Amino acid sequence: MSPVGVTAVPGPPWSAGVSRGPDGALTVAGIDVRALAAEHGTPAYVLDEADFRARARAFRDGFTAAFGALGTGVDVYYAGKAFLSVAVARWAHEEGLRIDTATGGELAVALRAGVPGADIGLHGNNKSDQEIARAVDAGVGRIILDSPAEIDRVADAARARGAGPVPVMVRVTTGVHAGGHEYIATAHEDQKFGLSLAVASGAGDGAGDSRPDATSPAMAALLAVLARPELHLLGIHSHIGSQILDPSGFQVAARKVLALRADLAARSGYLVPEVDLGGGYGIAYLPGEVPLDPQRVAKDLATVVDEECARLGTPLPRISVEPGRAVVGPTTFTLYTVGTVKPVNLDDGRVRTYVSVDGGMSDNLRPALYGASYHAELASRTSDAAPVLARVVGKHCEAGDIVVHEVQLPGDIAPGDLLAVPATGAYGRSMASNYNHVPRPPVVAVRDGASRLLVRRETEDDLLALDLG
Ligand code: LLP
Repeated sequence: MSPVGVTAVPGPPWSAGVSRGPDGALTVAGIDVRALAAEHGTPAYVLDEADFRARARAFRDGFTAAFGALGTGVDVYYAGKAFLSVAVARWAHEEGLRIDTATGGELAVALRAGVPGADIGLHGNNKSDQEIARAVDAGVGRIILDSPAEIDRVADAARARGAGPVPVMVRVTTGVHAGGHEYIATAHEDQKFGLSLAVASGAGDGAGDSRPDATSPAMAALLAVLARPELHLLGIHSHIGSQILDPSGFQVAARKVLALRADLAARSGYLVPEVDLGGGYGIAYLPGEVPLDPQRVAKDLATVVDEECARLGTPLPRISVEPGRAVVGPTTFTLYTVGTVKPVNLDDGRVRTYVSVDGGMSDNLRPALYGASYHAELASRTSDAAPVLARVVGKHCEAGDIVVHEVQLPGDIAPGDLLAVPATGAYGRSMASNYNHVPRPPVVAVRDGASRLLVRRETEDDLLALDLG
């Protein structure tokens, strides 16, 4: 029997570079986590660079092969909201990905990394004038329009800045409800993103979609873009949600977007050259969970796109996708040091061991915000002690500060042990906070037996520097 806390088979939810060293301690890219903790302190996000690059390539190659076989091209945009730093933007670009940004801040990081504007997209449901101006000046490859008002705002900015036609996409909501949690589903009707494909039931004779000439908000926006010479209508965009493990939603959405494209062509004579099918590819967070395979998803999507275009009698568009979580999520684990260990008697007679670590909801908000599940393992050693029912909690001042709800840990878990929580690369550091004035942890990249800081640890001085007294 393998000792408690040892992953029997390396694999999801760990990055490819993770294994156990000769004495049972966790290693990544050939480095012992005890050495990482000694050098960089804890908590720390430990990011496996080779794994990141391999996942980026898997998306690029999988989608290029699937759509290339149909004779059309693909662009894979890395969704920087999952985690963006200058080095990571550079790696993604070196591996043939473009960068999807959602704010001026993310755009600034991508530009600082030297990614050409043409290889960057800008999203956002409430872009500021400064963000639009910056994107136009940087010559971004596309601005994704999210509301009717933005059509004129971007066109006016292009005119004012003497820019050529600005490539834009219109983000549409297909009515497909998908994703790991209500807060991260983005294509159903009653939420803030995009423009609906549905014709309002109050429009026309009240018969809903049945009036052939009735115009949906999405169609109205596409026609309005065509009327502005400062804009080049590059395509239609659909993103249905995040942490999606059932790929059928992508296919339903793809069919709807392609139908809209054909409808627009019939009405205006203009066939948009591109369609973006968004991100949202789900990953494993727990041992035994099966992540989506980008190659498989790409193949199935290509089949659907091919069939649908044949049915509609339209040539294939160029396709783009925007994975974030699936590229960076599994590359990273968070390394914590155990502090207090406290057995708590439960009403049903069981005992739960509360294991407090030196971080918590400030470095991983997902359990508190979405009830997300994570896994944890004793990382600095193995143990033959019988497992106990444990809950890993943080150091913040609220009971909901939970890192891992329920996990079996060796019964001799003790202060000073290192714990590793896998699959924290996406929406971990990027959603981190300074709750309780806890400085945010560093992001440490590991590769070929060496580590380097991508983002240094915040200090109390950093926090106090913002406080003007
Ligand atoms: N494209 C668009 C337009 C998006 O809104 C998103 C994510 C992505 C791409 C990337 O999705 P991904 O491949 O990473 O699932 N904070 C939440 C996730 C929010 C996702 C927001 N949009 C979480 O921690 O689960």
